[in-house]
Amino acid sequence: MKKNELTEEEINKLEIDILLFAIYRISGYDFRQYARSSVKRRIMHRMRLESLPSISALTEKVIHEPDFLEVVLNDLSINVTEMFRDPSFFLAFREKVVPHLKTYPEIRIWHAGCSSGEEAYSMAILLEEEGLYNRTRIYATDMNARVLRQAEAGAFSLNKMQTYTKNYFQAGGKREFSQYYTTDSVNAYFHPSLTENMVFAQHNLVTDSSFNEFHVIICRNVMIYFNHDLQKKVFHLFDESLSSRGFLGLGHKETLRTMDTEGKYILFSREEKIYQKKG
Ligand SMILES: C[S@@+](CC[C@H](N)C(=O)[O-])C[C@H]1O[C@@H](n2cnc3c(N)ncnc32)[C@H](O)[C@@H]1O
Repeated sequence: MKKNELTEEEINKLEIDILLFAIYRISGYDFRQYARSSVKRRIMHRMRLESLPSISALTEKVIHEPDFLEVVLNDLSINVTEMFRDPSFFLAFREKVVPHLKTYPEIRIWHAGCSSGEEAYSMAILLEEEGLYNRTRIYATDMNARVLRQAEAGAFSLNKMQTYTKNYFQAGGKREFSQYYTTDSVNAYFHPSLTENMVFAQHNLVTDSSFNEFHVIICRNVMIYFNHDLQKKVFHLFDESLSSRGFLGLGHKETLRTMDTEGKYILFSREEKIYQKKG
């Protein structure tokens, strides 16, 4: 028999391929085109926590234990978020995009990969202050049902409110931030009026298709986890879903550069990665 000539790195890659294929076959969640460096970091972290000797051992547990599969799925969907995250983005949105939106009779906004909803609540507050929320519908989607339930509840940990208040003012907030929520000893509960024009739904950018036409699509800090081919595919999905002259907001580390849809957009705000689709 021929000697196994795979290097340790190649074995590692093969084991991750098999794990991601197993996850896809069992759950339908497809992480095969996610950036490998971050997937590998998450898997190694879970292996250490569970004292598992190899990726193959982790795969076996994923296949046989549904609860463990859930744990790994949550590991792979990184949910870190904040209200008015990167305040300068929201300030630019308020100062540069809102004047355009004021000319629209109705506004549809898609927050793709909204996590536990902080981004969508921030947008609702901003639009309320600009007099636009009553003619806006916000579609807040994520592939992860657990974080969507948190988003719907609109309850965020009280100990984060100091940071969120600071972000709110840096983002051009015009009122007392505390007027938007009530508190108990654990959480801040955002006012239900903020969710009146919000729809939360499960949507997977890898496997689901376009479901509406939007004037604004915000997808921040999601595509950094995708490889180049997957980014290309998702930009096509956004292009299909964005109206002519619509706005696309990305995270600071994300770009349309080198994507085949790039030529259809102008860089509306270079610093904040806000693009506008050409007419
Ligand atoms: C780091 S959070 C970013 C949240 C928010 N957009 C922000 O910038 O604060 C990334 C979110 O993208 C979601 N996500 C990852 N892959 C996705 C996919 N294929 N389809 C939809 N959502 C996805 C994750 O579940 C997670 O909630």
